[in-house]
Amino acid sequence: MGRLPFKKFLACQYDPVPPVEPQDLSGQTVLVVGANIGLGYEAAKHFAAITVEKGKEAAHTIKEATCFENIEARAVDLAVFQSVVSFADKLMQEEDRLDIYVYNAGVSTRTYARTVDDRETTLQVNDLSSALLTILLLPLLRKSTDSKFSSRAVIVASEVHYWATVATEELACPNLLETFNDKEKCTPQVMANRYWLSKLLNVFFVRELAARLPPNSPIIVNAVNPGFCASNLNRNEKFPVTLLISLFTALISRTTEVGSRALVWAATGARHRENDLRGAFISDAGVTEPSDFVVSEEGARMQKRLWDEIVEVLGKVSPKFKTIIGEHLSGCGSHLSTLAVTR
Ligand SMILES: NC(=O)c1ccc[n+]([C@@H]2O[C@H](COP(=O)([O-])OP(=O)(O)OC[C@H]3O[C@@H](n4cnc5c(N)ncnc54)[C@H](OP(=O)(O)O)[C@@H]3O)[C@@H](O)[C@H]2O)c1
Repeated sequence: MGRLPFKKFLACQYDPVPPVEPQDLSGQTVLVVGANIGLGYEAAKHFAAITVEKGKEAAHTIKEATCFENIEARAVDLAVFQSVVSFADKLMQEEDRLDIYVYNAGVSTRTYARTVDDRETTLQVNDLSSALLTILLLPLLRKSTDSKFSSRAVIVASEVHYWATVATEELACPNLLETFNDKEKCTPQVMANRYWLSKLLNVFFVRELAARLPPNSPIIVNAVNPGFCASNLNRNEKFPVTLLISLFTALISRTTEVGSRALVWAATGARHRENDLRGAFISDAGVTEPSDFVVSEEGARMQKRLWDEIVEVLGKVSPKFKTIIGEHLSGCGSHLSTLAVTR
């Protein structure tokens, strides 16, 4: 499926999502970024519950929203680069391992607003901070190689990436990120597409990162779509968009518990064929083809340009960013392109 016609989107909402399968995650460390509510909260509950030995107690404790000794809350503001850097530094200092990392946090808004880092908020929270944290945590993910499983880095993307458009004029600009960040160019029409664009950028980042990791890397990175779920994601929208969203929510939304199963599958599923999950776009409990644009030549060019631009921007945020890239990733990783196109 390289395209997602609206009828197909509606039909997919009613596809059954398999329940989360029990697995033993004892001794493993799981990080869910953005887990206080919504999909992240439900995913965190699942991760605790599927750990065979301690599941019952952990699930109960999370439900009661009290302190369970193996569940720790850490604060990070993803709209502030230095907060992300400090968060990553602290994790690196205090944790011995990281087996599963889910970047779930995200925002959706049509209002142009800049962060303290002078970046448009949606792209900073959904994409730049996601890239920053993921790269900064690669050494910790790499460290957990004693496990019988690979480490997983899961970025929560969305099926709306199928609908994201990138204008020819935008593609013709010398710098994509600066163009997307430019207030003058962020017309209401552009901002109406912004969240979708941010999810397209998630897919590109995951594919490029996976392609740059060594072919047999013990880190598997993928992007996941939970489907349209009733959550607080659209809390910043205004009337009449809110009315439309309420209508769709009432008619076709999944619960965040159902949607979170996809996150857990992307993080723990298909252990017997993990290579299929490298750089994959996952929907519900399976690998699916990303949008036609993603796998097009134009898409491939945009993917590489974005990678270079992300490295340029984030390399200035933290010197470690480029060091880790130099130590853990190759200059270019074409070994995945063919695989992804033929999926
Ligand atoms: N719901 C859907 O239909 C749907 C569909 C496809 C993909 N997704 C994706 O799923 C992910 C989770 O969305 P959701 O629907 O569960 O939305 P949600 O209920 O609004 O949860 C979003 C999470 O992101 C966190 N977050 C947002 N901005 C942050 C910031 N600056 N710093 C730290 N944390 C921040 C929120 O924390 P606070 O509450 O503290 O802000 C919250 O934990 C997002 O990436 C979204 O794009 C959702």
